[in-house]
Amino acid sequence: MSKEYKRTLITTALPYTNGPVHIGHLAGVYIPADIYARYLRLAGRPVTMIGGSDEHGVPITLKARKEGVTPQDIVDRYHKLIKESFEGLGISFDIYSRTTSKIHSETASEFFRRLYDKGEFIEKTTEQLYDPEARQFLADRYVTGECPHCHNQGAYGDQCEACGTTLAATELINPKSTITGATPELRQTKHWYLPLDKWEPKLREWILEGHKEWKTNVYGQCKSWLDLGLQPRAVSRDLSWGVPVPVEGAEGKVLYVWFDAPIGYISNTKELLPDSWETWWKSPETRVINFIGKDNIVFHCIVFPAMLMAYGDNFQLPDNVPANEFLNLEGDKISTSRNWAVWLHEYLADFPGKQDVLRYVLTANAPETKDNDFTWKDFQARNNNELVAILGNFVNRVVVLTHKYYEGAVPAPGEFTAADREMLDELQALKTSLTENIETFHFREALKDAMGFARLGNKYLQDCEPWKTVKTDPERVKTIMNLCAQLCANIAVAMEPFMPFMSEKLVKILGGLPLNWNEIGSADLIKAGTMLGQPELLFEKIDDEAIQKQTDRLEAIKKANAIAAFQPEKVLPEVSIDDFAKLDLRIGTVLECQTVPKANKLLRFTIDDGTPTHRTIVSGIAKHYKPEELVGKQVIFIANLAPAKIRGIESQGMILSALNADGSLVVAGPTDKCNPGAQVK
Ligand code: 2FM
Ligand code: ZN
Repeated sequence: MSKEYKRTLITTALPYTNGPVHIGHLAGVYIPADIYARYLRLAGRPVTMIGGSDEHGVPITLKARKEGVTPQDIVDRYHKLIKESFEGLGISFDIYSRTTSKIHSETASEFFRRLYDKGEFIEKTTEQLYDPEARQFLADRYVTGECPHCHNQGAYGDQCEACGTTLAATELINPKSTITGATPELRQTKHWYLPLDKWEPKLREWILEGHKEWKTNVYGQCKSWLDLGLQPRAVSRDLSWGVPVPVEGAEGKVLYVWFDAPIGYISNTKELLPDSWETWWKSPETRVINFIGKDNIVFHCIVFPAMLMAYGDNFQLPDNVPANEFLNLEGDKISTSRNWAVWLHEYLADFPGKQDVLRYVLTANAPETKDNDFTWKDFQARNNNELVAILGNFVNRVVVLTHKYYEGAVPAPGEFTAADREMLDELQALKTSLTENIETFHFREALKDAMGFARLGNKYLQDCEPWKTVKTDPERVKTIMNLCAQLCANIAVAMEPFMPFMSEKLVKILGGLPLNWNEIGSADLIKAGTMLGQPELLFEKIDDEAIQKQTDRLEAIKKANAIAAFQPEKVLPEVSIDDFAKLDLRIGTVLECQTVPKANKLLRFTIDDGTPTHRTIVSGIAKHYKPEELVGKQVIFIANLAPAKIRGIESQGMILSALNADGSLVVAGPTDKCNPGAQVK
């Protein structure tokens, strides 16, 4: 930040209301934005944090259609759920509104109308995909097909998720309607296009020259877009759900969701601050920061800025767009449609009172420079080994000892020793680094610095050993315990942006405290004589059972997804009846079944095949059955397969089985009792 600003306007990507929010949203956008907003507030710097639901767009209408309800029903349901769960996690929006609000449709309409009146759009009639069965044009997610770039078969009409390319629906190879499955036809339709190419030189100068400090992922994406050359982009769609295009001859057309959504930041500011919103958007002394995920970079750095430039009237462009990469879950991409996510509302219900644990883990693991992975094991380890063992432990020791030695009253310090001064110097260094890291949006590092306060406290206690010194030099212990209380107070302030619930609890234990960022590092935050509250655990251990419950849930989802996505193998080349007749398939009854020593995949069967000698078959299905489960069952086996030695046992045939999509295996057998040895034809 090279210039002095008077205020900061923080915007957070408006989540689509076609599902709840998950940990990916939180780690990518809302937790970092909340840390930054809380930090500015503690530093006494004016800030407004804008949030809200993005309630237009095809995913919402598709979901409504699937459920047989209206799009309004869908957005009402998820807007409420999302808003409440954000509140539950302590995301401190100054407003969380929605793009179906009256003020938003008025603001978005006015915005379009002004650009239209200024002649900023190109009006074009082109051929677009049309579904003759559904009798509607197919924009965006209403159409899928093959990506012309990477040949992924499931690309959408607006984007290929496999290679990340932005597409026009007409570019898809073999397009299909997602409503009816029909092959679309081409029909003529009129739309309005924003000529991004017109703004390219200004965008280049603004980003490539003016914002070299942006994160490399953001700067790099902008540069490659600009280097490819910008094209006019349609800002209207033939749909019924959205803000109607406010000009004549535009019946049945609405604003493209990516035209109206970012205007939502403005509408929500207007709703919050009807009298002063313009200061927050149009004053050069306002610093605008957009918190978003990496899939939103082009819209925030190219399209919306071009819209603002076209509008004029001094609308401020973002000073920074600290976009994060993606968070994966247990090694797989998070996906709303595949239910592969940790949903915030479910987390809050499953882990009541543990909001800060999630905030902590998602910050410590934030995908700031590369995609990262959330695992439940790591969540548990960070809680138990860091929050409980380092932070909670330090505060608890200080409170317990202060009660033990001074009946809870913070003692007055004596003269500082070299060790005290060294500790305070380290505290100052941590504060400097912490502030610098927050200012530059390096929240992971910042959290490490803040945890450094507690590490420093534990080390100081360990080095000073007040429990020993109290017997020899009780005056010295007063200084030690005073400084420990000061460290606790510093923790309460420094951790507030990251873990506001813990901070509030700690402030109460410390007998109240004004929270002021500028005073971090001080050895006089808490006055001598202050009565500390009773010791209270700030964090509790999370046991294996709670973690197992979560991993079992994910396991069940994985299985359900595999079943839903099951595609039977391609049928092998045709064989003649004579070829088939060569295979002698028989029914057998399992007489005995045992594990094979030192071979954890194998089971050894004794099969009644209708002959007095019976036969032995070794089969690699031990992962799927316990031996006793199969005794007495009838199976189908190949009776004339050449015998083979497996682990020294001669296997005289092969038992048939089928592998399910979820990885489970079922042994094939007759549906009713058969004579052992009967031929299967
Ligand atoms: O990607 C998304 O979830 C979009 N709904 C974000 C919109 S951000 C802003 F422009 F509103
Ligand atoms: Zn592709």
